[in-house]
Amino acid sequence: MADTILIIGGTGMLGEPVARRLRAGGYHVRILTRSPDKARGRFGVDYEIVAGDVTVPDSLAGAMRGCQGVHVSLHGDSAPDLERIAVVNAVRAALGACVQHFTYLSGASVIAENCWFSDTRARFEAEEAVKASGLPYTIFKASWFMESLDRFIHGQRAFVFGPQTKSWHWIAADDYARMVAAAYVTPVAAGKSLFIYGPDYCTMRAALQQYIAIAHPGVRLMPMPFWAADLMARLGRRRELQAALPFFRYCDKVSVHEAGDPTEANILLGTPDTMLELWSRQKAAQSDSLNL
Ligand SMILES: NC(=O)c1ccc[n+]([C@@H]2O[C@H](COP(=O)([O-])OP(=O)(O)OC[C@H]3O[C@@H](n4cnc5c(N)ncnc54)[C@H](OP(=O)(O)O)[C@@H]3O)[C@@H](O)[C@H]2O)c1
Repeated sequence: MADTILIIGGTGMLGEPVARRLRAGGYHVRILTRSPDKARGRFGVDYEIVAGDVTVPDSLAGAMRGCQGVHVSLHGDSAPDLERIAVVNAVRAALGACVQHFTYLSGASVIAENCWFSDTRARFEAEEAVKASGLPYTIFKASWFMESLDRFIHGQRAFVFGPQTKSWHWIAADDYARMVAAAYVTPVAAGKSLFIYGPDYCTMRAALQQYIAIAHPGVRLMPMPFWAADLMARLGRRRELQAALPFFRYCDKVSVHEAGDPTEANILLGTPDTMLELWSRQKAAQSDSLNL
């Protein structure tokens, strides 16, 4: 019988590619969600969908029954501490269910000295809870995902908030998903925190410019200072933008933004090699085929 892996956050932008990669690799994939009907419509009969909420420990205990692996890829939106609570609750449930491998998506800048920012502190404490649990674990400390670039686009404009002068190693979610799947069959990946960086190293502005030039040629790049973004968020009552701006300020200001070396991850799990240009072309081809 195939091993069962529970994905918490499997309906999310970065959880779904992991779910699909693990399923393609022959695992029985169980997805925990607060909206099971929606998830069933999206994933079909090849996936087991269970209703649950990370803030309700009983729902986690039930969802983990019979699972060999648990992957957490959760986003708390405007409640950053949700991620810490989720991981603490998931670790406890995983210990009860005798889970053999616990994997967690964290971030490349999650280190003690960046804990002045509440999201980073929540993730740092989540990582500490995983490491202290005694469970075999792999923590993925990923840089910016190419998939995030779609979230910068609103209508015919693509916004970059603040100066954003730092460069990041942009990674494609499919490459990362392949690395997560590899961790489940690589015993030496257990007990590791691994830095996951893609092959392209450039600023948000350069990444977005390249992406829209290929996949959204009608869209115009709009660099916007923070004060104007604040105004736009407040006057337009854009709660999503209000919630996102502190993170953009953090990305602009953080002193160590990619805090480790990806060599070990690349050796153990295979080097991610999808370039932004190819990824953008694939996205353009996908939207062309949807528009046919
Ligand atoms: N974007 C990047 O470049 C980047 C880089 C490094 C790390 N990350 C991290 O990756 C993680 C995932 O991000 P994402 O963009 O994939 O998130 P997302 O698309 O916003 O998805 C959020 C997921 O969290 C689940 N969720 C939220 N609250 C829940 C609750 N109370 N109980 C159960 N599930 C809950 C949602 O499930 P339902 O709604 O179905 O219940 C959904 O699957 C985040 O921690 C993010 O910080 C992102």
